[in-house]
Amino acid sequence: MRIFTAIAFDSRVKDQLSELCESLRRAGVTGSFTPAENLHLTLKFLGEVSSENISKIKAALKSAALTVNPFSLSSKECGYFSNRGEKTVWLGMTGSGLSDLANTVDLAFSQLGFETEKRSFTPHITLVRKAHCDATLLSEVNIPHIEQTVSCATLFESRRDAGRLWYKPLFTTELGTTKP
Ligand code: 2AM
Repeated sequence: MRIFTAIAFDSRVKDQLSELCESLRRAGVTGSFTPAENLHLTLKFLGEVSSENISKIKAALKSAALTVNPFSLSSKECGYFSNRGEKTVWLGMTGSGLSDLANTVDLAFSQLGFETEKRSFTPHITLVRKAHCDATLLSEVNIPHIEQTVSCATLFESRRDAGRLWYKPLFTTELGTTKP
């Protein structure tokens, strides 16, 4: 199974993100827009794992999450990654415990044998893949103020059923009760 850990959003935030996607469309951005139900902020992508390792992975995520206190997450600017000519439009996010959470989770999984991230963590929500846009188009879009308290982290399975990509929550664990 293909898995990753992420911050899941409540329906209010998903609605705000969908409205932002509508604004991007109106501004002329085209591409494969992330369906509202799939919107998330990836903390660590683990890739293919055997189902027999899932309980160890859940335990590692649980202990890591406990060491980071809940924090407030909020929206920054829209931008894009360009990889081999393919653009991915994202909304950047900021939050006091965000990098700490991603790095702690990365370290916990490295103790199970997963490779640590070589690149620094760039907190973002992927909005459009295979996008056609440019920096000017993105700068014309009004970014709503989006805010959510992050009090848990979720392990997701990435599935493709009948051609449809969707993310199944496998396990959700609370942040921070061990840090003073
Ligand atoms: P991103 O969209 O936030 O960049 C589930 O597949 C999530 O894991 C994706 O939304 C993507 O996060 C991330 N992901 C998928 N494949 C990946 C890879 N090969 N390396 C790193 N992250 C990946």
